[in-house]
Amino acid sequence: VSAPAVKSLGAVPSADRPSFRRRAWEVYGEAVEAARDIYRVLETETKSPAALFWPENIIRKILLLLREGNSEIVALTNRSVPDHYLYGHVPNIAILSLCLGLAVGLEEEDAVTLGLAAFLSELGLASHLELASKPTTLTDEEYRLLRTHVEEGVKMLDLFPLPESERKATLRQAISQCHERISGKGYPGGLKKEAIHPFAKIIGMMDAFEAMTHTRPWRPRTLPHLVLRKMVEENQDEFDALQIRSFVECLSFYPPGTFVRLNSGEVGRVVSTSPDLPLRPRVWIFMDAAGDRLIPSREISLSASPTLFVVDAVDETALKPNDPRLSLELRAQCLWVKGL
Ligand SMILES: [Fe+2]
Repeated sequence: VSAPAVKSLGAVPSADRPSFRRRAWEVYGEAVEAARDIYRVLETETKSPAALFWPENIIRKILLLLREGNSEIVALTNRSVPDHYLYGHVPNIAILSLCLGLAVGLEEEDAVTLGLAAFLSELGLASHLELASKPTTLTDEEYRLLRTHVEEGVKMLDLFPLPESERKATLRQAISQCHERISGKGYPGGLKKEAIHPFAKIIGMMDAFEAMTHTRPWRPRTLPHLVLRKMVEENQDEFDALQIRSFVECLSFYPPGTFVRLNSGEVGRVVSTSPDLPLRPRVWIFMDAAGDRLIPSREISLSASPTLFVVDAVDETALKPNDPRLSLELRAQCLWVKGL
């Protein structure tokens, strides 16, 4: 892998931001619907291939947004889908994988294959939806059963209307290896380092990152900047060090969508980041130091405001604004519900 060319997420004039936001929301909504449609077909006994939707068009739309520096599509990966987490997990890992894929300089068609592999990487879980969201500790037998989703997913790939091709061979390999870890402690093959396809390494890392940053029925989420820090400090034997570095560089220290408190006491949401100044993102400030809604809200670039800086990232659901409606709005920020 050559030195990653990191693209700035969100180098967008603020006047264009509403249209960026609207397009990101449309594409994210389509991606969630597609994931839901695919899983619903695969959950059935017949798994009718004719009813299966091939998500390539959605992957291309996500890629286009990322190439344009649309940070809103990345911010949306903070969301969870309320019915089953997998319907949001799958689009999220596709978006994050593509983000990293572009940062390491993948060509368009390779990036499409990577995005598809990420989107289809959990197909086999369609047979185990209940087990995948069991709120209590799994027994050894349940855990063994859940791990079979990798092989099952590879078989399910054949249900889609995709002729044998180089792309299909890569998809098969990436899907079958995305739970392998460079330490050799992954499954099903216990493969090590270079034996694992680079796309499988990317998807495996994004799968872990997405899982940790989202609430699951058995545990709460961890904020993205803490997961990034943990990956840098503790996960070097599981994930490729260069890949971790590229990911941190492309998401930045406070990824788009992160809620932050400034030294002024004001609270805002990271709108976009700059790889050159990872601690000085652009922030949309909506709450003042006293906990009141800021009217009008304002957007500032911390790189152009030398006296202002981020004190810490905050959990938006734990903020205590004076306006109860703002409190509700903030709690809704981590959910993906149509119309919210
Ligand atoms: Fe998986």
